[in-house]
Amino acid sequence: MTEPHILMCPPDYYGIEYEINPWMNRQRQSDHALAVRQWSALRTLLEASGAHISTLEPVKGLPDLVFTANAALIHQRRAILAHFRHPQRQGEEPFDEAWLTAQGFEVERVPSDVYFEGAGDALFCGDTLFAGYRIRSDARGHQQIGERLACRVIPLELVDPYYYHLDTCFCPLAPGRAIYYPPAFDDYGLRALRESVEELIPVCDDEARRFACNAVVVGRTVVTNAGCPELHAQLRAGGFEPRETPLDEFVKAGGSAKCLTLRLDGEEAASWRDCDRCH
Ligand code: ARG
Repeated sequence: MTEPHILMCPPDYYGIEYEINPWMNRQRQSDHALAVRQWSALRTLLEASGAHISTLEPVKGLPDLVFTANAALIHQRRAILAHFRHPQRQGEEPFDEAWLTAQGFEVERVPSDVYFEGAGDALFCGDTLFAGYRIRSDARGHQQIGERLACRVIPLELVDPYYYHLDTCFCPLAPGRAIYYPPAFDDYGLRALRESVEELIPVCDDEARRFACNAVVVGRTVVTNAGCPELHAQLRAGGFEPRETPLDEFVKAGGSAKCLTLRLDGEEAASWRDCDRCH
C-alpha cells in the first residue's frame, strides 16, 4: 500500500491581488504571517494523518498558486492539466505542467478553447467522475475527459457564485459516500447526485460558508477549516475522524483545506486507486 501523497505550495506570494470570485475583495487583504502559520499547521496535520507532502515552488505574481487542487486532474500516471478561465490564473499553467512532468506524470492538455480547473471541478467518487461546470470549467471539457479516461461523467451545474468550484460544495469520502451543500446545485444536479451516491451528508448554510465541504480526506481522517461542528458530529457518527484547523486567511480568496492540496496518488474515494493493489 502506498503512502498518501499530496502536493501543496507554500504561501510566500499569496495575497488578494485581484477579484475573480465573490469571496475576494482587495480591501480585505490576508495577513501574511497568519496565512503562513495556517498553511504550515494544515501541512503538519496532514502529515500527522499519514500523508507525504511534496511542495511546488511559489512564484511571485501568482498568488493563487497555493491552491494546488486546481493544477490538474490526476488519473493514475496521467495528469489532465488545468486551463484556467481567468487570465489572472493562466500564468500558473506552465509551472504546474513543469512540476508534474518532472514527477513523471504524462501531462495532457484540454483544447485551448475549453476551460478546465483540475481537481477543483472534477472529483472521483467510486468509478464516476463528478464534474462541476458553468462558473469555471466547461461541460464540454468534462465530456472529453470522460472519453479519454474511459469513465462515466456526471456533470453538475453550479448555480451559486459563492460555490464556484465543485470542491466548495461536494466532497467524496469513499465510494458511495460524500458530503454536499444542496443549494449549490440545480434540481437536475441534486437528482443526479441523489441517484448516484448512496449516502450524502448535507452541510448547513453556516458551515458551507466556513467551507465545510472543502475537506481533505486521508484514510479515515477528514480535515476541514475550523468551525464546522455539525459536519464533524455527522462524520464521527459515520466512522470518520474529523480534524479542524483555522484557514480563514485562505477563505478570503475563496479557498480552504481541500483547495490547498492535490492528491497525487488518487483521492481516497476514487476506485481506480485500489487497482494497483488488487493486481
Ligand atoms: N482565488 C482562487 C480562485 O478563485 C481560489 C481557488 C480555490 N480552489 C478550489 N479548488 N476551490 O480561483
